Amino acid sequence: MTTVAGNVSEFTEVDGAPDASWFIRFMDRANELAAYATMRGQLVEALGPLAGRAVLDVGCGTGDDARELAGLVGAGGRVVGVDLSAAMVEEAGRRGGAVEFLVDDLAGLGFADGEFDAVRAKLVLMHCADIDAAARELLRVVRPGGRVAVYDYDFETTTIDHPDVDATREVVRCLADGHANKWSGRQLARRFRDLGARDIGITPLTVVMPYEFYRPSVGGRLLAAQAAGDLRMTADELDAWWRPLEEAAERGGFFASLTGFTLGASR
Ligand SMILES: C[S@@+](CC[C@H](N)C(=O)[O-])C[C@H]1O[C@@H](n2cnc3c(N)ncnc32)[C@H](O)[C@@H]1O
Repeated sequence: MTTVAGNVSEFTEVDGAPDASWFIRFMDRANELAAYATMRGQLVEALGPLAGRAVLDVGCGTGDDARELAGLVGAGGRVVGVDLSAAMVEEAGRRGGAVEFLVDDLAGLGFADGEFDAVRAKLVLMHCADIDAAARELLRVVRPGGRVAVYDYDFETTTIDHPDVDATREVVRCLADGHANKWSGRQLARRFRDLGARDIGITPLTVVMPYEFYRPSVGGRLLAAQAAGDLRMTADELDAWWRPLEEAAERGGFFASLTGFTLGASR
């Protein structure tokens, strides 16, 4: 039996998880992927000129991105990173940098209307129970004319190269259905337009995931889903499903990807 800790669809409950450090290690591994550097670049571009600006990073996780933003705003600017998870904020503070890190909830941020020139949320809205309320909150704390940048996955865009098409379709369905907001990526532009945002731009970004990243990323979710009856496979069938992927990885032939969308918009 495969043993993998952590469930990537439970990013709203990091502090209640048996091992909060799994989520920290997961984000560190993700942020090392080449496509995540592209993602950060797209988000920075969507935020517009940053020198001297006040920037809020919501759902900042370990704070590495916020530290990068601090370098871009420079000495005259201000960067604040907030996260729902005290464990994440503690880790972000431990890693240091010229950033204020606070525990706060995107469902109701503790900032004044228009307090920031630019606001960013990378891989966060897709975890929120009410995405429209979260998006409204991002727009509230940015000044009129300020910029909002968001990246969210669309979980129904998973590709996995596997010889068993039917079993793989079931795995992809299960992984998508495990996220409350599996279509968040494709809905970003429409949601922000409906909330009155202007100058909306959308850029797709596909993340190709190596086996060493992919298996620990989704392994826990699949095990939990199988045990709960949410995956139409036996435990042995799930083990067997991984085998061709392990073999492909050994030959250097593993392929899996997930597509998301970068939104840039003005308030
Ligand atoms: C997938 S991680 C992304 C972390 C970081 N943005 C990055 O890309 O490295 C999602 C983060 O959002 C945080 N989060 C989830 N729901 C939140 C909420 N309602 N308000 C603030 N942060 C939230 C989680 O604790 C987690 O740190």
